[in-house]
Amino acid sequence: MKTKIVTIGKTESGKTESPESVEEKLAEAGRIIRQGGLVAFPTETVYGLGGDALNPESSRKIYAAKGRPCDNPLIVHIAELSYLERIVCDIPGKAQKLADAFWPGPLTMIFRKAAVVPKQTTGGLDTVAVRMPSHPVATSFIKKAGGYVAAPSANLSGKPSPTLAKYVIQDMDGRIDMIIDAEGVEIGLESTIVDVTGTVPMILRPGYITQQMLSAVVGETDMDVTIYDSSSPQAPKAPGMKYRHYAPRGELVIVEGEPQQVVRYINVQTALHEAEGKRTGIIGTQETIAQYHAFSIKNAGSRSDAKAVARQLYTFLREFDDEDIAYIYAESFAETFADKGLGQAVMNRLLKAAGHKVVHV
Ligand code: TXA
Ligand code: MG
Repeated sequence: MKTKIVTIGKTESGKTESPESVEEKLAEAGRIIRQGGLVAFPTETVYGLGGDALNPESSRKIYAAKGRPCDNPLIVHIAELSYLERIVCDIPGKAQKLADAFWPGPLTMIFRKAAVVPKQTTGGLDTVAVRMPSHPVATSFIKKAGGYVAAPSANLSGKPSPTLAKYVIQDMDGRIDMIIDAEGVEIGLESTIVDVTGTVPMILRPGYITQQMLSAVVGETDMDVTIYDSSSPQAPKAPGMKYRHYAPRGELVIVEGEPQQVVRYINVQTALHEAEGKRTGIIGTQETIAQYHAFSIKNAGSRSDAKAVARQLYTFLREFDDEDIAYIYAESFAETFADKGLGQAVMNRLLKAAGHKVVHV
């Protein structure tokens, strides 16, 4: 299949694109979706791989393009709150409050699904995940696509979610109809997922909208135990969280401890690997970065700035693949981010990427 790649926002001469030209491109993208095709599009979190959420054949194609197990449900993206009613059984009061506070934005809520949503979209479940993104290109595209776009992250299954169009192209070129390239994919981690079907809203995947932010709006909230306790025997409540995710090809290890000890340990390890002719990579922070030695050193910014780490994490993991790095060491952000804010989401993804390999020094 030939994949059409369209850039939105800038013309070749560097000028801002006219609204008419943007409209035209998004109208074509919308048409592709309504005809049962697939289009990758930017959101404020990561790129999504979109298809018509109400067409079972489109969902089947999404699973095939990603190589994704079909018991892993998709998120339905909407552009207006009035569209929610049609696809869910009921809108609990707390869900309404959360929608008022955080939509459009990086929050996904799980509702009991209406019959119109095919089981192919929900991985066989009676519930449906819904999100209203804030990225203006996403919003306009969803409206033109008929209002309901099912979209997982636009990576091949198991790879880090793409935050840049070049990584969508790397994974999806030849597998889908169109890729929309635009700026503004700024958060860098997937949305927070909250199940609102019970009395107490339950966080199934941590993200930019933190537990404190949610509790400030609806009072008590819970968190799926598997998020903070990797030894829990329970299965994660979001089916997708059980798979190894976000993984770079090289072996990734997280190193915890007093900063100077961490630097020393990592430098010894990278020196040993380099002596064997292997390429090494490090994710460090502003405070320590100058002291490291490796083939590829990534600066995640200041330890106190979780947003910067979140924004860059997946790009770093992808770059290590591009650079053919065999061994990667990352500083731990667990202590710095013990406030359970955005840092919890960062550590959740980093631990998954590392397959929970953590060294204490
Ligand atoms: O930020 C995001 O959420 C991005 C952008 C594209 O919107 N999308 C995204 O989709 O991350 P995906 O498919 O990569 O992750 C969706 C997660 C999976 O872990 C899936 O198991 C869970 O949401 N999920 C979807 N529907 C669910 C449901 N009904 N019940 C529980 N978990 C569900
Ligand atoms: Mg994903």
